[in-house]
Amino acid sequence: MSTFSIMATAKAVPDKVVTNDDLAQIMDTSDEWISRRTGIKRRHVVTDETNTSLATNVAKQLLAKTHVSPEEIDFIIVATMSGDYMMPSTAAAVQGQIQANRAMAFDISAACSGFSYGLDVMHSLMATHPNSTGLLIGSEALSKLIDWHDRTTAVLFGDGAGGVLVTNRDNDVNGQFLGSQLDAYGADGDALTMGHIANQSPFVTVDDKADLPLHMDGHRVFDFAIRKVPASIQAAADQAHLKLSDVDFFILHQANQRIVKSVARKMKLPFDDRFPINIDEYGNTSAASEAILLAELVEDGKIKRGDILAMSGFGGGLTTGTVLLKY
Ligand code: ACO
Repeated sequence: MSTFSIMATAKAVPDKVVTNDDLAQIMDTSDEWISRRTGIKRRHVVTDETNTSLATNVAKQLLAKTHVSPEEIDFIIVATMSGDYMMPSTAAAVQGQIQANRAMAFDISAACSGFSYGLDVMHSLMATHPNSTGLLIGSEALSKLIDWHDRTTAVLFGDGAGGVLVTNRDNDVNGQFLGSQLDAYGADGDALTMGHIANQSPFVTVDDKADLPLHMDGHRVFDFAIRKVPASIQAAADQAHLKLSDVDFFILHQANQRIVKSVARKMKLPFDDRFPINIDEYGNTSAASEAILLAELVEDGKIKRGDILAMSGFGGGLTTGTVLLKY
């Protein structure tokens, strides 16, 4: 157990709201199908915002809420799979925008597990740097990578960012990192892919084509999630010497309300307020989804200091990640 205090949470989503009915105007789908199969009602979609601007917005809010100056930030990590550039990283762009001149910055690519991976990586960095402060942000502009002609994926995703300012300095917020479990299942990576970059030099002898949009075998990912997420949460709890009944909130990646319900059932827990849901408003925002949900629960006063949180993500890689925290 070690000090790891979330000093503030924040979220930023694009202004443009696209309802299921809006989508039904441009593709063969319906509010009834999307709501029943996924729980999604609306999603926010970037117009003039970018992945970087959403993440920077979150970073600025976190600094303002905590009165921490940019120079006090040591680490900036952004979890994303939809950066504005492959290089530079979104984290470095945020570092430049907020002038966190002492901070190192890098992105994490673990798809929808990115925020949980990021919590673990941030905690490990801080463990070797006493009195440090970091920004961890999940940010996605997935709408630019979706095939808007493919109704099986286009209706599922949304854009947005969320994040936390964390510190291991002594202060009156006694948050703790309790345990974690990160896993990868690379042999199943083809179930969920996006942004294939083809070999294109004059020396290429094989037929290889660039393929930007997201492709997903929904059934495989669904089965994967309901098998591996309960195991991931249980393993993190075992590591933290906690029982599932000790956890106040299971902040699960918001990919599908049915997945969250199935995970609760597999863990033999009632699907109640301990499994909060906001997929109705945002759709699947990948690495941003846990952070947006956390920020909303804190904003609404539902999560209180001392609560035990299980932050659990799953997705591309395939990957899963669970981190147990005392808030
Ligand atoms: N509107 C209307 N009908 C549709 C739509 C749509 N948007 N999409 C598919 N359908 C049709 C299909 O064509 C199919 O029709 P058919 O029976 O005539 O063939 C029917 O609806 C049922 O399709 P299924 O794919 O069987 O629907 P299912 O109930 O499995 O739901 C879903 C699909 C929502 C994708 C589900 O499988 C799922 O949530 N999978 C997990 C996805 C996930 O979690 N992805 C994110 C991982 S996170 C990351 O890293 C990005």
